[in-house]
Formats: sequence, C-alpha cells, structure tokens
Amino acid sequence: MSRSPMVVRTVPALRRALDDLRARKATVALVPTMGALHDGHVSLVRLAKRRAQKVVVSIFVNPTQFAPTEDFGAYPRTWKADVAKLAAEKVDLIWNPDVKAMYPEGFATRIVPEGPATAGLEDRFRPHFFGGVATVVGKLFTQCRPDVAVFGEKDFQQLRVVTQMARDLDLGVKVIGSRTVRERDGLAMSSRNVYLAPEQRQAAPELYRAMKLSAARLRAGDPADAVMAAGAELIQAAGFELDYFEVRHAETLAPITSRKDGPMRMLVAAKIGTTRLIDNIAV
Ligand code: PAF
Repeated sequence: MSRSPMVVRTVPALRRALDDLRARKATVALVPTMGALHDGHVSLVRLAKRRAQKVVVSIFVNPTQFAPTEDFGAYPRTWKADVAKLAAEKVDLIWNPDVKAMYPEGFATRIVPEGPATAGLEDRFRPHFFGGVATVVGKLFTQCRPDVAVFGEKDFQQLRVVTQMARDLDLGVKVIGSRTVRERDGLAMSSRNVYLAPEQRQAAPELYRAMKLSAARLRAGDPADAVMAAGAELIQAAGFELDYFEVRHAETLAPITSRKDGPMRMLVAAKIGTTRLIDNIAV
C-alpha cells in the first residue's frame, strides 16, 4: 500500500512543508482541484510529476466561484478516495484549507480578470465564476509559489484566464494545460458526471460526437454558420438545453469563423436535466 501524502490545513503549516520540499532546491508543481478526483485529475498529477520534482495537490471546494443557485453544498466530496488516489500517485503534499483558512474573517480583496474572462462564453452564464476562480487560484499561487501549475483543458476558458492572470501579475508560475481525459464513449471526465441519471449518462456523449462531426466539417472547409447550426441541432435533439456552441480563436477566445484566422477551438456548454456539462476540442 502507498504511504499517504502529508496533509496540511493552515498557511503556516503549508509554508513549513513547502520549505522542507524545497530544501534541496527541488522544483514544485501545483495541481489545483476541488476534490472528487477522477482519472482526469490523475492525468494532471502525472503531467505535474513529469514537469517538477515535487507535486502539491490542493483540494478546496471554493465557495466564491459558485452562485447561490449553484451546487456548492451538493458538490461531491470524496476525501478518503481522493487521498488514496493521490497516495497511489505518490503526491508529496495535499493542501486542504477550510473556508476560514482560505478566506479569514474580514477578507476583502478580489481579483477581477478581464480579457479571456469576458469572452462571452462561461462568463455569460456564470458571471460570478471567473472572479472566484482568479481570486482563489491567485491565492493558491502565492501560498504555494509553484514553478509550474497544471490545469485541465476541459475548462478551456479557465485555462486561458489563469494563464493570462499568471502573466499579468508576474506570478512566476508556468501554467500548463493537460489534455481532456474521456470515458470510452467520449464523455469528458468531470466530477459532475455523477449527477447524471442513467438515461442522461447515455445521451451525454452526444456532445462530443456533435463536436467531432462539426470540427471535421469545418476542417473540410464547410461554412461555419451552417456547420455550427447543424451541430447545435444534434445536441438539442439528444435532449440538451444549449448555453453555447461556438468556435473561437484558441489563444484569445475571440470569435472566428475560419481556420485561416488562427488556431480554432470549438467550445460547448449545455444542460441535460439539471446537470450542466462543458467540453471543447481543437478544430
Ligand atoms: O477547475 C477547478 O477544479 C477549479 O475551478 C479550481 C481551478 C481548482 C479553482 O477552484
């Protein structure tokens, strides 16, 4: 059996543990998570291990990125299983603050990201989200001072937002994106997939299928308007209520309609029942 990683829950304990990890000038990678770990997270940890000598995983369900109407209370919390997974990957340290340790009494500072955070994708439907993410990730970066930090490409706009923030605020961390891990039928792994009822779970891979078909048509040179409208119909026919289905410039997230305008990313967000899924692929 693998030895459990050290768990720290206060900022002073984190500092001491990081000083120990760095004692021999080791490089440190951070993998920020909200727990409920699945194989997608494991792949982030494995990439982190390839990029640095020591790996810290944070587990913190961040209340400031949830609207009052969202699932903060219901968000899956699977502590024991998470620790077992991280032990199997030989993670060095788990940073697991509670809400008071992250946002002590009187906390009054927020990071308000612009640029990719206002691209009109997730921010249109979850206006509170990127402020909460940027603030907590900014704190995680200053608390852990990692050399590199690994984020999943599944949350593509989030990846762009934290990359921009790290650069704009000179946080001295290299942000690395990790490829989306999928179930055998194509559904992107997500902690929220546990919410899906069996018939919704069966329909869910249609999101990926519609994206793949649409991306192939764009690559073949079909006009973006017609392709995206047909893809949206497929998604809706599978029982989803669509928030957006768009192609954007992969770096800036600006709207583009042709691969001639730069690297293209197709992004989707849609609800099936009460569960909201997001996904994206390169075109
Ligand atoms: O992607 C997530 O799990 C969260 O948004 C993150 C980056 C850990 C910030 O709370």
